[in-house]
Amino acid sequence: MAWKTLDQMDISGKRVLVRVDINVPVEDGRVTDATRIQRIVPTVRDILDAGGKPVLLAHFGRPKGKRVPEMSLQPLVPALEEAFGADVVFVADCVGPAAEASVTALQPGQVLLCENTRYHAGEEKNDPELAADMAQLGDIYCNDAFSAAHRAHASTEGLARLLPACAGRLMQAELSALEAALGQPERPVVAVVGGAKVSTKLDLLGNLVARVDFLVIGGGMANTFLAAQGVDVGKSLCEHEMADTALEIVGKAKAAGCEIILPSDVVVAREFKAGAAHETVPVADCPADAMILDAGPDTVARIAQVLEGAKTLIWNGPLGAFEIEPFDAATNAAAAKAAQLSRDGALTSVAGGGDTVAALNKAGAADDFTYISTAGGAFLEWMEGKTLPGVAALG
Ligand code: 3PG
Ligand code: MG
Repeated sequence: MAWKTLDQMDISGKRVLVRVDINVPVEDGRVTDATRIQRIVPTVRDILDAGGKPVLLAHFGRPKGKRVPEMSLQPLVPALEEAFGADVVFVADCVGPAAEASVTALQPGQVLLCENTRYHAGEEKNDPELAADMAQLGDIYCNDAFSAAHRAHASTEGLARLLPACAGRLMQAELSALEAALGQPERPVVAVVGGAKVSTKLDLLGNLVARVDFLVIGGGMANTFLAAQGVDVGKSLCEHEMADTALEIVGKAKAAGCEIILPSDVVVAREFKAGAAHETVPVADCPADAMILDAGPDTVARIAQVLEGAKTLIWNGPLGAFEIEPFDAATNAAAAKAAQLSRDGALTSVAGGGDTVAALNKAGAADDFTYISTAGGAFLEWMEGKTLPGVAALG
């Protein structure tokens, strides 16, 4: 790897500016999913244990350069203290005299949390002046925010150029899991890509067909591929105007020796609601007044067969309308299969991106996956083959 880790830094007595992503869901002032907080604990603990002073920089929401009180990081302090098992001091700015004084006053064993970096307009503009002001707070820069690494912001990119820089433990874990899944994977490699629209995942599909052996397409975007190949998808969600693009991807897959797996049977209904009357039909028999809401059991059996022969799986997006029952069946069954193979040590499975983790949690499969990324957009951009500015700046 081209970047340093905490192991290569001399941390004792140093102020370590750590960019973390604690952009967690909060309801009524309470953190409803603390995963991102849990996952930065090793970095913070390692810095504390090495005698360093962790100074946390993070964004929260999208305040667009203004001090939006609802987007303050202060309410996260109790959750952070509980996770770190350490005192967390909060300071209401990420630059300037107050922040500098708080760093100076920080006692061994304490962690400093600075207010939302996005309260400053310069953050998203990657303003060198803001980055230089941030750099005043630390001796070392540690980026542990893989999930924000697709943003070239002052705290994720600019700052890395101003101080001796390294990757944190979560950043290391994310990068090695992704490398194992798509960089130098053990073959055969299967990608499962679901979600509503082809248009949002074009670059992703285009990159994957050149790199994986099997591409399972599910969710609404499968309908676009089916329709492009002449299948009548009735009232299903479908981007008919993307037909040519879908066919191009199919052609590219063929040329690259990647087999695309589309639903061969589907679960259809007339209404989009939980428990709606539904039937399973061969994909060619979708009634004109119905919509496809899930893949059927024959499709799931084929996916299971492909997974059994595979060594590596990379998963993004659900196979059907997983939020409502019973249209979560294909996602649940395929996830259960992947979980079982991973548990048995037969499959390296990596999942990430938006809805994916929610779907795998709902399926009860997430714990058995080899690696679950904390990233949404960054995971997708990485799967698209893009360079993430926050990672590149560490190199
Ligand atoms: C996320 O939650 O996806 C990351 O924290 C990045 O946030 P952003 O999409 O607002 O840049
Ligand atoms: Mg995002």
